[in-house]
Amino acid sequence: MNNLCRSALGAGLVFVLLAATPVSAQNAAAPSKWAPDFPLWAALWNPDFPREPANEDPYNVPNSSQTFTMQHARNLFFALDWHPDNHPALPDVVLHGRQPEVWACGSCHRAEGTGGPENAPIAGLPAAYIVQQMADFKSGARMFSAPQRKPIHDMTQIGKAITDEEVEAAAAYFSALSLDPILKVVEAETIPKTVIAGLIYAKDPDGGTEPLGDRIVEMPNDLKQFEMRDSRSQFTVYVPVGSIAKGAILIAGGANGRVPCVNCHGADLRGLGPVPGIAGRSPSYFMRQFMDFKTGARAGTWSALMKPQVEPLSIEDMTAIVAYLASLPP
Ligand code: HEC
Ligand code: HEC
Repeated sequence: MNNLCRSALGAGLVFVLLAATPVSAQNAAAPSKWAPDFPLWAALWNPDFPREPANEDPYNVPNSSQTFTMQHARNLFFALDWHPDNHPALPDVVLHGRQPEVWACGSCHRAEGTGGPENAPIAGLPAAYIVQQMADFKSGARMFSAPQRKPIHDMTQIGKAITDEEVEAAAAYFSALSLDPILKVVEAETIPKTVIAGLIYAKDPDGGTEPLGDRIVEMPNDLKQFEMRDSRSQFTVYVPVGSIAKGAILIAGGANGRVPCVNCHGADLRGLGPVPGIAGRSPSYFMRQFMDFKTGARAGTWSALMKPQVEPLSIEDMTAIVAYLASLPP
């Protein structure tokens, strides 16, 4: 870690350690702070989307000899491990979780931690960072500014019910993986017509096009493969024209007196010490995090270091930054 970041991290940690008790206590009692200007493309929710029944029809994905069914995919106490030769054995908390409220990490985040726009990629995050986030979910310091959706409610419940041993096992497993590249970023004005398939955008099966506007639209290339929780599902990420170059300038700049991102997140933005990598990760997830830092809904032990970074940024700036980050190799 370079000196500037080390001192920034040190100063921030001292500050939040002093403030930790009252901040956590307040947040634990308070409901989520919903930001009225929240960019809804990053927090989709359509409960009326017709879901395929949880049937037992066998299903296969490319480059895997495993067979699973929609019933497996809907079971939150089971991770579909499509590529078991590609990683160490799944710890029980990742594969099965623990009844009644520690749902299997691998069911939502996928067996290989690639995650999706509806949750978060957790492969390759530093173990100490994962442990800290779980502690922040547990204390109630890490909350959400998006309109409430089931998965984030579930993640909070898991944080409350999980034991230290389970956190250690999950953190060791996911931190040892490297994140597969699953995003292809495309600048566009017009994109394939979308439907909101539950918590994500998907291509309208009837075809057609629509304007992108100022949104980012992150959608799976194959909806069924996505629903079957394959870690290797690929996503196309449509971003506004010009946003990648604009994001690169904002990241490099340190405008408004900000410390450049690389000082803390590493020269290649792939992480530094306990500070997480931010290259090649879901832009929908990161937009939610920027809003959560900005509104103070995410007020974990280390969040004080990020709040001043996002405070001066407009939603357009944040959109450009997450578009640029998604375009980098993870
Ligand atoms: C029901 C689905 C679900 C399950 C099961 C689940 N998570 Fe999550 N998790 C989420 C969602 C959704 C988020 C992102 C919340 C947001 O948008 O801020 C998340 C976020 C996280 C983060 C924060 C990532 C970051 O970059 O800061 C960590 C760490 C995490 N989960 C770990 C785990 C572990 C460990 C388990 C298993 C014990 C687990 N999760 C099980 C849904 C789930
Ligand atoms: C002073 C150090 C510092 C600087 C500078 C900094 N960050 Fe961070 N960042 C952190 C820390 C520490 C965290 C973890 C915060 C927490 O635990 O709540 C973080 C978290 C994040 C996250 C959420 C990661 C996740 O997986 O949930 C994103 C996205 C992010 N930073 C982007 C940026 C960008 C973009 C910049 C530059 C504009 C930047 N950061 C500058 C220290 C920093």
